[in-house]
Amino acid sequence: MRVLICGGDGYLGWPTAMDFAATGHEVMVIDNYLRRTIARSTRSEALLEAPNLDDRAELFQSIAGHRIEVRIGDCADPTFLNAVFSSFLPDTVIHYAEQPSAPYSMRGFHEARLTFDNNLRVTFALIWAILQFKPDCHMVKLGTMGEYGTPNIDIEEGWIDIEHKGRKEKFLFPRQAGSLYHTTKVLDTDLLWFYVRTYGLRVTDLMQGPVYGLSTDQADLDDRLLPNFHYDDIFGTVVNRFLVQAVAGIPLTVYGKGGQTRGYLNLRDTLQCVYLAATKPAKERELRIFNQFTEQFTVNQLAERVSRAGNSLGLDVAVQSIANPRKELEDHYYNAQHSGLVELGLKPHPMTDEVLIGMLERVIANKSRIDTKKIMQRVRWA
Ligand SMILES: NC(=O)c1ccc[n+]([C@@H]2O[C@H](COP(=O)([O-])OP(=O)(O)OC[C@H]3O[C@@H](n4cnc5c(N)ncnc54)[C@H](O)[C@@H]3O)[C@@H](O)[C@H]2O)c1
Repeated sequence: MRVLICGGDGYLGWPTAMDFAATGHEVMVIDNYLRRTIARSTRSEALLEAPNLDDRAELFQSIAGHRIEVRIGDCADPTFLNAVFSSFLPDTVIHYAEQPSAPYSMRGFHEARLTFDNNLRVTFALIWAILQFKPDCHMVKLGTMGEYGTPNIDIEEGWIDIEHKGRKEKFLFPRQAGSLYHTTKVLDTDLLWFYVRTYGLRVTDLMQGPVYGLSTDQADLDDRLLPNFHYDDIFGTVVNRFLVQAVAGIPLTVYGKGGQTRGYLNLRDTLQCVYLAATKPAKERELRIFNQFTEQFTVNQLAERVSRAGNSLGLDVAVQSIANPRKELEDHYYNAQHSGLVELGLKPHPMTDEVLIGMLERVIANKSRIDTKKIMQRVRWA
């Protein structure tokens, strides 16, 4: 396949590019370094310095012998995107190119507008590039489990059958996101559904939970090929923040009661899911939705797991509850279906102590680079 990866410099984009190239596909990545720019402007730089995309691609080719083509530019700019798209003519486009930080999107007007404009405009530009130049191209789009929020009923896999006054119809599962970033993902889904049902696009929308992990078959070849590891309050997920707090000797900061439940997955499983979705594509005029996670945890359970792994390495890990900077339920029902990707062939890698210890060891090796000022929350929802 010819695979175009938008957002190829990102935490998920770079390992995905190596994975597809290593399995013999023709890969092109696009990125405009938006995440690096925001990280610099908010003092949220990653723990490990990552070479830029051209250098990473050269390094990967010299080590593994696989080529990844790089284009630097803005996917929201149709002039740039159409030129790249119409010359490469991908069979599959993997759409990661969004501003993915919920706290950043809640920081103020400028950040909210950037998130809103960027995310919607990239999705819109990609839809139109496909329509104009390769209508049978399959889009694999990264959504988020956060689109559903935390409803007091089971979360279905994308769709729900509703019976109302004796009549039945299938609808998108109700969505009620908890941040502006997550709301842009809801709007993306609606936009995609409109273009699927009206113009016949083929789309797989992956409702993904928070991803953790650094290790993949290709990233393990050389430390300079590792994905970005953010531990700050803007880009760092709760798992990364806990791991770094454990190593830095700071109590793991649980927001509020810590009963917030989400579905998590290992980076290796994201690669599997995206690969399965791309190689077993959605049909024409189909919006196929999968809930992409493998295990559900509360924040308290995550803190317990990181403490156990840290203590086994001789770290003295404490846990502390702090006032919740977000507006969210801290104790709630949560049961999300997630069988579709397993039926497609996913073999999950669970969050074992061994996995957490492997990540802790990498953080310990870079302990001198930790800036503890980056960890505590700087953004409040109201
Ligand atoms: N990492 C997770 O835990 C997670 C969970 C659920 C969903 N997602 C979704 O997966 C996707 C990738 O997430 P990630 O963690 O790799 O984020 P990331 O920020 O590391 O990667 C996104 C990449 O897209 C690039 N980008 C953004 N806007 C662009 C534009 N207009 N033109 C070109 N490049 C652009 C950024 O520079 C960045 O390199 C995002 O859409 C995110 O919402 C991620």
